Amino acid sequence: YRKVRMKTPVRVTVTGAAGQISYALLFRIASGAMLGNDQPVILQLLEITPALDALKGVAMELDDCAFPLLQEIVCTDDAEVAFKDSDYALLVGARPRGPGMERKDLLEANAAIFSAQGKAMDKTASRDIKVLVVGNPANTNSLIAQRNAPSLDPRNFTAMTRLDHNRSLTQLAQKTGSSSDKVTQMTIWGNHSATQYPDLHNTLVDGKNAMELIEQNWYAEEFIPTVQQRGAAIIKARGLSSAASAANAAIDHMRTWAMGTPEGDWTSMGVYSDGSYGIQEGLIYSFPVTCTDGDWAIVQGLEINDFSREKMTATETELAEERDAVAHLLP
Ligand code: NAD
Ligand code: LMR
Repeated sequence: YRKVRMKTPVRVTVTGAAGQISYALLFRIASGAMLGNDQPVILQLLEITPALDALKGVAMELDDCAFPLLQEIVCTDDAEVAFKDSDYALLVGARPRGPGMERKDLLEANAAIFSAQGKAMDKTASRDIKVLVVGNPANTNSLIAQRNAPSLDPRNFTAMTRLDHNRSLTQLAQKTGSSSDKVTQMTIWGNHSATQYPDLHNTLVDGKNAMELIEQNWYAEEFIPTVQQRGAAIIKARGLSSAASAANAAIDHMRTWAMGTPEGDWTSMGVYSDGSYGIQEGLIYSFPVTCTDGDWAIVQGLEINDFSREKMTATETELAEERDAVAHLLP
């Protein structure tokens, strides 16, 4: 006897599966937090060869949870096996930055990982795979994977700015004496980096325009830098980069993509630019996005003032520079 009618299992690939983000991520995927209580999952976990023993330990712990939704666990160091028929991929495996580094300093160390994984997905993944890149620099790594998987729709490749989005919700809620669930229509534009632009011009707090509740000075001098520098602040405080909050944002990103945005609200996702808002086509740029039936669409028609335009262009310029720096990995 089952209360919930179960769906057909889906395959979820997680790379860097023995790392710190994955340790906060895998158990929630297996519990149903990402795709729902009626969606069985098969976990396909990728690691580098020296980390396979540690990965085995994680798989043992997953077994020990006896999650009803977890149908099977595959542990491998072969990307083609990890992406075989995969429906959802969370690309976490990459080196994190340490104190004093910018995320783009990781470009050289991590870029090769994403070209190899793009090629593997091109060969073996489901044609409808939904890919989220978490490993930094996330937007450009997503671009590299996408360009190395030419047989897949570029719209299947996304990068994570949901953590920046969630950080912004809480910063604004705390400032206005509200709570994060009352904040809607938040937007992160551009790169998951210190040039990202968290935009409050269309944001509502309990239905009221956020810009009317805060001072321009707090917005420009405190809110924006706090969100832009939050990753670095956590590295400084913890000695390690954010992990549980990053895993939580990855769950949120995938759940929203699969199950949709609430009526009257949107989210932020790094997605393939179609030229909306004048942003160069083909960059993986974070936009305000609505999701319906497993598909996403960029919110159109928002008014962009001079302040916003300057910041949107600065982060676009950085993404174009990152793209040009990895041109040798973009077929
Ligand atoms: P970690 O070092 O704890 O784990 C990374 C794991 O990836 C390691 O176990 C490593 O063995 C594995 N790995 C390395 N190369 C691999 C490959 N080719 N294939 C498969 N696995 C591979 O790091 P972490 O703290 O889990 O962070 C992972 C990445 O996520 C970092 O790049 C970090 O900067 C990034 N990050 C992004 C966001 C975001 O908001 N987009 C937030 C937090 C962290
Ligand atoms: C974050 O935003 O916390 C992550 O991207 C880690 C980092 O390097 O800042």
